[in-house]
Amino acid sequence: MSAPTLPDGALAPEQVAAYERDGFLFPLRVFTAAEAARWAAEIAALPTPELRRHPAPWVQKAYLLLPSLDALTRDPRLTGPVASILGEDLLVLSADLFIKPPASRKRITWHQDVNYWGLEPLRILTAWVAFTEATPENGCMRYAAGAHRERLRHIEHKTADNMLSKGQEIAVEIDEARAVAVALAPGEVAFHHGLAPHASGPNLTDRTRIGFAIRYAATQVRQTSGPAITARLARGTDRFGHFALEEGPDAPLSPAALAAHRRALDPHAAYSYSTV
Ligand code: NI
Repeated sequence: MSAPTLPDGALAPEQVAAYERDGFLFPLRVFTAAEAARWAAEIAALPTPELRRHPAPWVQKAYLLLPSLDALTRDPRLTGPVASILGEDLLVLSADLFIKPPASRKRITWHQDVNYWGLEPLRILTAWVAFTEATPENGCMRYAAGAHRERLRHIEHKTADNMLSKGQEIAVEIDEARAVAVALAPGEVAFHHGLAPHASGPNLTDRTRIGFAIRYAATQVRQTSGPAITARLARGTDRFGHFALEEGPDAPLSPAALAAHRRALDPHAAYSYSTV
């Protein structure tokens, strides 16, 4: 069952309360299945061998490469519900594609998104947009309810099947029996708090699973450590100026877009791109 958003895009008070209690909120019917199918088709048609030669990981900050994804991150149907939680002035700090090919072992260990990011205050939310169906069988996310109130210690254990850049993993055991499967239909969205622990398993199906995880921050958030993160203003006004603001791409994979993408990501290469 989808929890429909209100006509003006704002969340109902009980939806905000559920987010604050659990650390997540889903499913939200934000986009149509047809829109999701168009994004999935655009991703599938990309010249991925060429993109793999691009020096920065193209799946990170992908909105700097593709105007359609830039428009998605700034769409009022999405930023409206985000504003209900973070306020009207919103930045995108990153937005990463998570592509799990058919029958792939790729998985994501339990982690908190902001654990490695020197960002304060933690007015940060991830909006995970399903471009294809996300199910337990194809490796949808799992959330641990109510565990978003503190930073948990992480260890780094990089393995080939872990999609996280440093193999970061929460050091304490998460109770899998209490984990919530984040099943989404194409075009639906899940929100989670920057400290909400989440993980995902392998894709056991014969179809590619694609999700787009957008990290929204209130403009008051500032960076306290690490190489400088640049940001895209997604809604409202930036009265703080804590981040250098990015421009959107002029055309898909244009020379200017590829150059802007490198400018944003190159400072993070020495950190395995783990801060964006
Ligand atoms: Ni994550």
